[in-house]
Amino acid sequence: MALTISSASFLISSFFISLCLFFSLEKGLALQAKQTHESTQSHRSQLRTYTVQLTSLLPASSCSPSSIVPNNEATLKVVHKHGPCSQLQAKPDHAQILQQDQTRVNSIHSRLSGKSVAATAAIDDDNPRYQKDSTTLPAKSGAVVSSGNYIVTVGLGTPKTDLSLIFDTGSDITWTQCKPCAKSCYNQKETIFDPSKSTSYANVSCNSAECSQLKSATGITPGCSSGTSTCIYGIQYGDQSFSVGYFGKERLTLSSSAVIENVLFGCGQNNQGLFGGSAGLLGLGRNKLSIVEQTAQKYNRYFSYCLPSSSSTGYLTLGKDGRASRSVKYTPLTTIPNGASFYGLQVLGISVGGKTLSISASIFQSAGTIIDSGTVITRLPPTAYGALSSEFQKQMSSLGYPKASALSILDTCYDLSGYRSVTIPTISFSFGGGATVDLDSTGILYASKISQVCLAFAANGDDGDVALFGNVQQKRLQVIYDIGGGKIGFGRGGC
Ligand SMILES: *[C@@H]1O[C@H](CO)[C@@H](O)[C@H](O)[C@H]1NC(C)=O
Repeated sequence: MALTISSASFLISSFFISLCLFFSLEKGLALQAKQTHESTQSHRSQLRTYTVQLTSLLPASSCSPSSIVPNNEATLKVVHKHGPCSQLQAKPDHAQILQQDQTRVNSIHSRLSGKSVAATAAIDDDNPRYQKDSTTLPAKSGAVVSSGNYIVTVGLGTPKTDLSLIFDTGSDITWTQCKPCAKSCYNQKETIFDPSKSTSYANVSCNSAECSQLKSATGITPGCSSGTSTCIYGIQYGDQSFSVGYFGKERLTLSSSAVIENVLFGCGQNNQGLFGGSAGLLGLGRNKLSIVEQTAQKYNRYFSYCLPSSSSTGYLTLGKDGRASRSVKYTPLTTIPNGASFYGLQVLGISVGGKTLSISASIFQSAGTIIDSGTVITRLPPTAYGALSSEFQKQMSSLGYPKASALSILDTCYDLSGYRSVTIPTISFSFGGGATVDLDSTGILYASKISQVCLAFAANGDDGDVALFGNVQQKRLQVIYDIGGGKIGFGRGGC
């Protein structure tokens, strides 16, 4: 059909008219959502939604500690590294946090694929006294980067030094920077631990079984100091940050009534990387050298935590805490091929706003899923992420929210300027063993600023890459690791 000039101009003008109509309609819908958010649930009875205050999505300036604290002696307070409850007060640069998070995920994927290249790192190669004190670090991969971002404070030594450590279920070795910092220590907020001032410190010998165990925990063959035959550990994280030093034993104080003797840890003499002012790392992985395994006699391979929103406090508890209520849902703990240190989960499906996404269960099964306290954003097989993102976008657009540009790895973002509250679809995960878990309302969005609030999920590069259940999605849930019982539990409103 030929197009005459007059009908073309008619088409153009009607295009503009419908464009204007479209925008006013969008505005109307948005206003309606803004003004009547409380009744949104009943208007759209087919959708399950949360209504959240926008202020709760943005960084708070003051700390409001949670009143929910487990009834257990071995309980540590957990705070977000960047939040007002942290002493470290690291400044959040969201693009950088998300970039580091991607580096961690890449290093997990490359570790599981078994790729690494070796290079030697010494305690201090410039100083003749330490030149021979070295171990060989892989130039790539190794352990995962500790972008972590949840912090606990423990006491080390006698008398004890209080140290803020990143807590990490994705790695095993606990280490802290140690004096004399023979080669290098990065800036940390607290006083650096000095083993020569502690009456309970002892070096671990190179010939010991504990020293040999390092290889399976770090992927790195331990070294041996020429003078004292002290075992030398090395751990390399995915972003090229590392810690090398003497492997020692110390008294670890969790609370006045929970003191553990002879805990094996790394006394770091050469430390470099992005540890955000923390004193080191607390490893809660599945290797024999992790804190969970080292305290197995006392706490029975059982721990739980709640990761708080950034302006509140949560907890990390070793041993049963008596709070595991009937509302906790359990799913079998699985293992990850080539990733013996990781805690595996079976994800079966995801629903958005109560609507189950049509994703074949085999997509999740072939990749497997790690639950990780150190990964920020949950990573899904691209096929699953695509289904999640498009359903989320569909429901958000029906609620009238305008889209915004992508933020680093997050591509589903909204401009919520001018809103005081926002109504968002619920997201729930179904796990093996029949456990269905609703994420908390704080576990769905990641906000850098009010004009850029994003769905806090991202896609892996390939459906075959292992998926990761990250710390944003675990927020405010009570997460229970019953390793002896072979299960992981999730409860609502943990902190
Ligand atoms: C531990 O070994 C290192 C390296 O040989 C040595 O400098 C340090 O004095 C030893 N510490 C103790 C308490 O034996």
